[in-house]
Amino acid sequence: MKIFLDTAKIEEIRRAKEWGLLDGITTNPTLLAQTGKPWKEAVLEIIKEVPDKPISLEVIDTTWEGMIREARELAKMGDNVVIKIPFTQEGLKAIRVLSQEGIKTNVTLIFSPLQALVAGKLGATYVSPFLGRLDDIGHDGMLVLEEIIHIYENYGIETQIIAASIRHVDHVRRCAHLGVAIATIPFKVLEQMLKHPLTDIGLAKFIEDAQKAGIQIL
Ligand code: G3P
Repeated sequence: MKIFLDTAKIEEIRRAKEWGLLDGITTNPTLLAQTGKPWKEAVLEIIKEVPDKPISLEVIDTTWEGMIREARELAKMGDNVVIKIPFTQEGLKAIRVLSQEGIKTNVTLIFSPLQALVAGKLGATYVSPFLGRLDDIGHDGMLVLEEIIHIYENYGIETQIIAASIRHVDHVRRCAHLGVAIATIPFKVLEQMLKHPLTDIGLAKFIEDAQKAGIQIL
């Protein structure tokens, strides 16, 4: 499973990179706003830090013509830029044109298997079902994800699925269990994945015993 970081914060991106756990980045207007920097500055910083892995940047125009204009501009910022397009009727028209132009797309705000089917048929590079936001309203995000995986297998749809709106480590575990291609994970959840109290307790005991026994390797 590829691990994308769902953030626009450069410090978080650098930390994940140091751990060797960064296969790509997804952003959205909310995440960019959280950096407190002008959006373009924040985006250019990310592209400079990660020049060789997919970086999703979202359009904000709601008309298909506007989305296409914005997408073309954003795509010029880097070869690895992927354009996030919301799943709307206008968005669908934009996806088709951008796919034909060879511009990579990530169809966002996906909440149902049929939305994912449609985005796949139109040639989207990625689709992003939002697990956490479905759970928030009493639906089962994981069930939706499972159905999308199944439907894509049925028809050999090559669009890659990015499990998004991940809120906790158990979402990540269940994504891996289902075999989803990519999970885009907030930094806090990525950090939590690396921690286990028994590891900390076990290590403290090993260090203590090494000191008692006078073990010194170097
Ligand atoms: O980037 C899109 C998605 O991951 C947003 O997550 O937590 O705002 O629902 P969240």
